[in-house]
Amino acid sequence: MKPKKIALGVTSSISLYKAAEIIRLFQKNKVDVQVIMSKNATKLISPQLFASLSRHPVLVDLFALPQEERIEHISLAKEISLFLVAPATANIIGKFAQGIADDFLSTFFLAVQVPVVIAPAMNEAMYFHPQVQRNISWLKEKGVVFVEPTQGDLACGDQGWGKLAPPEQIINECLKIIAQSESLPGLKVLVTAGPTREYLDPVRYLSNPSSGKMGYALAAEAERRGAKVFLVSGPTSLQPPPGVNFIQVGSAREMAREVEKIFPEADVVIAAAAVVDYEFSKQHPHKLKKDQETLQVELKPTIDILERLGKIKQDKILVGFAAESESLVENARRKIAKKNLDLLVANDIGRRDIGFESDYNQVILLYSNHKQEELPKRSKKEISRLIWDRIEKIIEQRKVNTSN
Ligand SMILES: Cc1cc2nc3c(=O)[nH]c(=O)nc-3n(C[C@H](O)[C@H](O)[C@H](O)COP(=O)(O)O)c2cc1C
Repeated sequence: MKPKKIALGVTSSISLYKAAEIIRLFQKNKVDVQVIMSKNATKLISPQLFASLSRHPVLVDLFALPQEERIEHISLAKEISLFLVAPATANIIGKFAQGIADDFLSTFFLAVQVPVVIAPAMNEAMYFHPQVQRNISWLKEKGVVFVEPTQGDLACGDQGWGKLAPPEQIINECLKIIAQSESLPGLKVLVTAGPTREYLDPVRYLSNPSSGKMGYALAAEAERRGAKVFLVSGPTSLQPPPGVNFIQVGSAREMAREVEKIFPEADVVIAAAAVVDYEFSKQHPHKLKKDQETLQVELKPTIDILERLGKIKQDKILVGFAAESESLVENARRKIAKKNLDLLVANDIGRRDIGFESDYNQVILLYSNHKQEELPKRSKKEISRLIWDRIEKIIEQRKVNTSN
């Protein structure tokens, strides 16, 4: 069980007095709070107030700390299960998005590896400024969760968007994320990701533009929820998520071999890899010389990893991906039956704004019971959370069915 402690960043928005209510609500839910304030926030309200409420000295200045506590931003980062900034000014959002680390709060953001939740509060014109929206989008792509501001009377006298979301809503979002960090303990998850490469000779290969981002995000999210995760990945430029067991492969054959080794002990298998459908009938051990007008090569189908797993899956949950450029739903429906899947995530690779190399995706979920659900366009990190919420529901439903 991870400790129930969070860090609360408070910045100099007029709504910062609401942070007192946020601390109180966390405490009511038995969550310990360490407050970090920006220097400007201390000009609007005394840190003493938050120190008394949270029963911890408030952290403000990295250099004002005694020598032995100066690395507190690193040690604190390891103790907490969530980092919330509420209220968050346009300034701190910009600093986070740009990687500026000129005070305790912004340095801390770079040191944390736990989920980050931001609740912005500002004047409507500031909130909708293209630069602020760009910063928010960038942070969302990187997996930061935003509790969007609401509409109402703003402190500046204006009416409009930019009012801090109600403390109860902020707390509920945070508690949901903290609970998820313990929602899959002991579960063994196998994820495949990235493309495969089918070599003709030592330097030439057949592949596709899959970036692996969706599979890596799904693996990272499962790890965050407490599962033991195996990630079998084709070649990508991504860093393996911390804490996952990472297995690098090249071809479809290698991927099939590694997947089949792990498969017997997995409870959930997510096949997000874009496995190349064909391989060369003959692979040449030496580089082919460019001495012919035309080059005839013959291709044969690669091993269908998902279909093989579908035949031996027993009570495992099997999730597949379908990348289609036409008749998305019809093709995906056929695949769900043919491969014996519990859930199929279908995306339209004909669209340039989502899919293969993009940070964004828009998917349709198709279930084995013929239900269908369209998710909104979101960053791949957000989509991975929504997919795991659905897989958790399937797991719960299974438990109910077996206990009846
Ligand atoms: C009374 C007062 C209220 C403010 N309210 C907000 C606000 O709600 N949102 C915001 O983004 N900036 C607000 N500002 C401007 C920020 O305080 C300013 O951009 C500051 O540089 C942000 O510093 P910080 O992010 O380090 O706290 C306010 C300033 C003052 C003086």
